[in-house]
Parts: sequence; C-alpha cells; structure tokens
Amino acid sequence: MISVEVHDATAMTDLGRRLGAGLRAGDAVCLTGRLGAGKTTLTRGIAAGLGVTGPVSSPTFVISRRYPGRDVDLIHCDAYRLSEDDDFADVVPDAERAVTVIEWGSPVMTAISDSWLEVEIVRTTGAGDETRWVRCEGVGRDWAEARVRELLAEAP
Ligand SMILES: Nc1ncnc2c1ncn2[C@@H]1O[C@H](COP(=O)(O)OP(=O)(O)OP(=O)(O)O)[C@@H](O)[C@H]1O
Ligand SMILES: [Mg+2]
Repeated sequence: MISVEVHDATAMTDLGRRLGAGLRAGDAVCLTGRLGAGKTTLTRGIAAGLGVTGPVSSPTFVISRRYPGRDVDLIHCDAYRLSEDDDFADVVPDAERAVTVIEWGSPVMTAISDSWLEVEIVRTTGAGDETRWVRCEGVGRDWAEARVRELLAEAP
C-alpha cells in the first residue's frame, strides 16, 4: 500500500494525470471514498493523462461513459447504484481495449478483471482543510507494488 498526500483539487488532478500517463489498455482502477472525496476530480486527471480532450462529467446518473483518448479510451463508471448481481461486463463492454475507472467499484471489479488498481481517497483532517490521502494498492498479478510505485513516481 502506497499513500500519497494531496493538498487540494489541483494536486488531485495532477496525481490523476500522472496515473493516466502510465495506464494501458486493459487496466482497471477501482475508486473508493466518501461523497465529495475527489473520485471524479482524480478521474478528470486520469483522463487528461490519457489524452482525453473535452469535459469529463460525473457519471452518477449514466452509470458509464466512454471517452476517446490518445491511444486508448477511458471508460468512466459509477457503480454506486449497482450490486454484484448486475452483469457488469455488459455495462462495460470491451474493457480490455480501454482503461476503466469505476467509482464505488468494489462490488463489481471481479466482473471485469482479476487484477486492478485499488485507490481509496480519505480525508483525515477537519473542515477547512482540503487535504486528502490517496491510498493505492494493486490487486492481482498485473499490479505488483513496483508498478504502482513507478506509476506514482512518473513525471507529470
Ligand atoms: N484535495 C482535494 N482533492 C480532490 N478534490 C478536492 C480536494 N480539495 C477539495 N476538493 C473539492 O472536493 C470536490 C470533490 O468532488 P468530486 O466530484 O471529485 O468527488 P467524488 O468523490 O467524485 O464525489 P461523488 O461520491 O459524489 O461522486 C470538488 O469540488 C473539489 O474541488
Ligand atoms: Mg464522483
């Protein structure tokens, strides 16, 4: 588990951009964190890192959106209203040819992959402080800790 301290929304976007620049087709990212933690903000950075141009909206009411990137597409999902019973592979077709980022993804990740990057955004400080901790941990064989470390260290 690697923890990164993020001081504000701009730094969260920058962190996402760094992640996005190192992600490749077939990668999946599970985002966890309370309402307003910064999951969509981080995803906007990932989109930028993948070369997505144009706005990335919050997928809360649409479940899933696909954005063309420079080399691979970004699939951005919100699984908040989904359960393990939903056939998530149908919601995210062709995930092996895109980078898939799923907010509230924990119950559905195994439906699309046996390996993913788990990202938890937590707020440990009080009101008025925008600091978040971003905890990253790989699950499964595609995500050895060395890869997570390398991804987080990549130049912005
Ligand atoms: N350090 C920070 N990182 C990310 N966002 C921050 C930070 N500090 C303040 N913010 C603000 O908090 C809000 C985070 O909203 P965002 O939509 O990204 O959260 P979310 O986790 O996707 O929420 P939801 O669960 O509703 O989808 C934004 O308005 C952002 O500007
Ligand atoms: Mg969101």
